Amino acid sequence: MEKIKVGMLGIGNIGRGTYQALYMNQKKIADTTGLDIEIVKILNRHPEKDRGIDIPKEKYTKDVDDILNDPEISIVVELIGGIEPATTYMARALENGKSVVTANKAAIAANGKMLAELAQKHHVLLRFEAAVAGGIPILTSLTTALLSNEFSSVHGILNGTTNYILTQMEENGKNYADVLREAQAKGFAEADPTADVEGIDAANKLSILISLIFGLGVGPKQIPTQGITQIGSEDIAFARDFGYRIKLLASAREENGEVAASVEPSLIPESHPLANVRNEFNAVFITGNAVDNLMFYGRGAGPLPTGSAVMGDVIGVARKWEKDSAYDIVPQLRYDADLRFIGEGSNKYYVRMTAEDIPGVMGKITTILGAHGISIETAIQRPAKNSGSEDGVSRAPLVPLIFIFANVDKTIVSDALDDLVENKCVRSVETVMRVAD
Ligand code: HSE
Repeated sequence: MEKIKVGMLGIGNIGRGTYQALYMNQKKIADTTGLDIEIVKILNRHPEKDRGIDIPKEKYTKDVDDILNDPEISIVVELIGGIEPATTYMARALENGKSVVTANKAAIAANGKMLAELAQKHHVLLRFEAAVAGGIPILTSLTTALLSNEFSSVHGILNGTTNYILTQMEENGKNYADVLREAQAKGFAEADPTADVEGIDAANKLSILISLIFGLGVGPKQIPTQGITQIGSEDIAFARDFGYRIKLLASAREENGEVAASVEPSLIPESHPLANVRNEFNAVFITGNAVDNLMFYGRGAGPLPTGSAVMGDVIGVARKWEKDSAYDIVPQLRYDADLRFIGEGSNKYYVRMTAEDIPGVMGKITTILGAHGISIETAIQRPAKNSGSEDGVSRAPLVPLIFIFANVDKTIVSDALDDLVENKCVRSVETVMRVAD
C-alpha cells in the first residue's frame, strides 16, 4: 500500500479535528482508496500545551522548514489561519512541489489567484474545501457534480456565530449584547468577534464562491458588507409580523452580464428553506440552469466537521497523485468571465425609523421618499410607548415607523434617509435591511 506523508501547519481546533478525522477512520480510508495516509509532522510552536488529543510528541516540530523542506512530505495542510505567514508558507510548499490543502478563507480570498497559479506552475494541487462553510462540500460539488450548470445565484448563511446570535435573539427574545456574551462564554464566538459579527468572515467566503460560480474576481473588500450589530429585538419582532426571519445573508446573482453581491442582514420569507437554518448551522442555496434550486446544509465550523472537509481534500489530492493523473487539473478559482461587478444592485429594503408623532409626519416622509423615486410597498406605524417627556421637556411622543421599499438601489435609499433626517422628518434611522425574496 502506498504511503502518503502529510505535514500539518498548526494544531489548533481545526488541526485537532483533521487529525481525529484521519485516525478515527484510517482503516476505512485505506480500504476504500488503497492509500496509507499519515500525518508525519506537525508545526506546533507550543508543544508543552495540552491539545486534548493523543499525538506522539516526535511528530511535533517548531520549525516550519522541517515540513516545507522535507522531500518525503507530498501534501502540506495549512491550518494556521490569517493571511500571513500562512500565504508565504503555502507558496513555499507549492514551490517545493508539494500540494497544499487549507481551511484558510482569508488567505484564499486575498491570495488565491497567486497560489492557484503557483500550483499550476509547479504541477501540484491547491484545495480549500474547508474554507467555505466548513463541513459542507460545496466547492467540490460545484467543481465536479454540478459542472454542467450555469448558476444564476447563490445565497449563503456562511457564518455560524452570527446565525447562532440571530437565532437566539429570535427564539428567546434576548438582545444582541446578551447573546454575544453567552456565545463567548460557551466558546461559540471568538473573544474578538469582529470578523464574524461585522460580516468580514462571510465576505471572504462569498468572494471564493463568486470566483467558482461566476468566474469573476471580486475581493472581499469590494463586496458591500454590513454586519449584525445594529439589529434590535424590535426588528426581529417586526420581521416576524411581516412573515420574515432575519439572517446574515451572503448573496451573489448574475443577470444580463452583471453580478451583484453583498453580505448583509436580510429578511427572508419564513417559507424559504434558508429561514429555517438555525443556530450555528450554515447553508448554501444555489440555482443552476440544469439542477434548479439546491440547498446544502450542515456545520460550517467546529473541529471535526471542518476536519472532515480538510481530510476530503487530502484524500482527493492523494488519489490523483497516486494515479499520476493530476497535474494538469483545472484550477478551481477562475477570474476570466466577461461579467461586470456592480456591487449590491437593487433590492427591496426594510427600514425602521423613529419619528415624532405629530400630524403630517407620514405625509412629509412619503413625499421625500417619492422625490427620490422610492416606491413604498408597506408602511406601518406602531403606537407610541412613551409620553414624549424627555428630561422634563414635553415633546410629541416618539413612534416607530417601519417601511418596506420596492426594488431600489441602496445608494438611493441612503440619500433619501439622509434627507429625511436633515429635514427633521424623522428623529433617527434605526435599521436598514435587505428583503430577500
Ligand atoms: N467563525 C466562523 C463561524 C467559522 O462562526 O462560522 C470559521 O469560518
